[in-house]
Amino acid sequence: METSIFFAGRGLTGPPLLLVHGFPLDHAMWSPLLDRLGGVARVVAPDLPGFGGSPPMSDGTVAVTMDDYASHVLAVADALGFPRFVLAGLSMGGYIALALARRHASRLAGLVLLDTRAEPDDDAGRQGRLRSAQAVLGGGLATLAAETPAKLLGKSTMARNPAVVEDVRRMIERASPAGVAGALLGMAARPDARAHLGAISVPTLVVVGAEDSVTPASAARTMASAIPAAELAVVPAAGHLAPLEAPEPIAELLRHFLAARVLQP
Ligand code: MLT
Repeated sequence: METSIFFAGRGLTGPPLLLVHGFPLDHAMWSPLLDRLGGVARVVAPDLPGFGGSPPMSDGTVAVTMDDYASHVLAVADALGFPRFVLAGLSMGGYIALALARRHASRLAGLVLLDTRAEPDDDAGRQGRLRSAQAVLGGGLATLAAETPAKLLGKSTMARNPAVVEDVRRMIERASPAGVAGALLGMAARPDARAHLGAISVPTLVVVGAEDSVTPASAARTMASAIPAAELAVVPAAGHLAPLEAPEPIAELLRHFLAARVLQP
């Protein structure tokens, strides 16, 4: 089936760097990084199907799997002529990055896992996702848009940065209910990625906000220690959306990672 994918891009030289957003957001969560990294990489931030400017893949009653999303990310890389690229994914974007790393390892020059985890949902989590998918299909995104920013953002951002809170709310409002529901079903069905972490052989950077209560620093530490070539960075005063909450420290981490670990032989 023909489909279209919206993406934002910056930079004409340097390694290709694909940024995969979290749930239920879109490429705009990477906006503060796009300008900061455009001078050192060819940076591309797609909207996954059903989010931002990309149309949904289905009516939201069937799961869009992490492998489905990974295929879209690969299609973007193919369309732009990137045989190998650095892949950065935040939270659901990280689940997708791990799915892509498992099946298409030869396409990766490096991996950045931000505010994410390798373990699957537990039963209660799965049931909650199924209920949320039904609620969104039946009642739209207003409740999710109102409630989610406080769950994702750290306490420092909630107290000091109302503009970011508003940006997150608006991003959720412009997603499509079908896209959000399909993603919820897909995340509920995602497999345990822990057994495959040891096979990741590309340079890897694991980043987590110190105030992330969704995928906390302890989970990031465990994941990083299971990946052979991984280093871990914990970013102060940031929650689950660290690149939006603390863009300069994250940009600096990425600049250093690209220069020291990806570009050198
Ligand atoms: C995300 O930020 O992508 C979500 O928190 C992921 C999830 O719900 O597991």
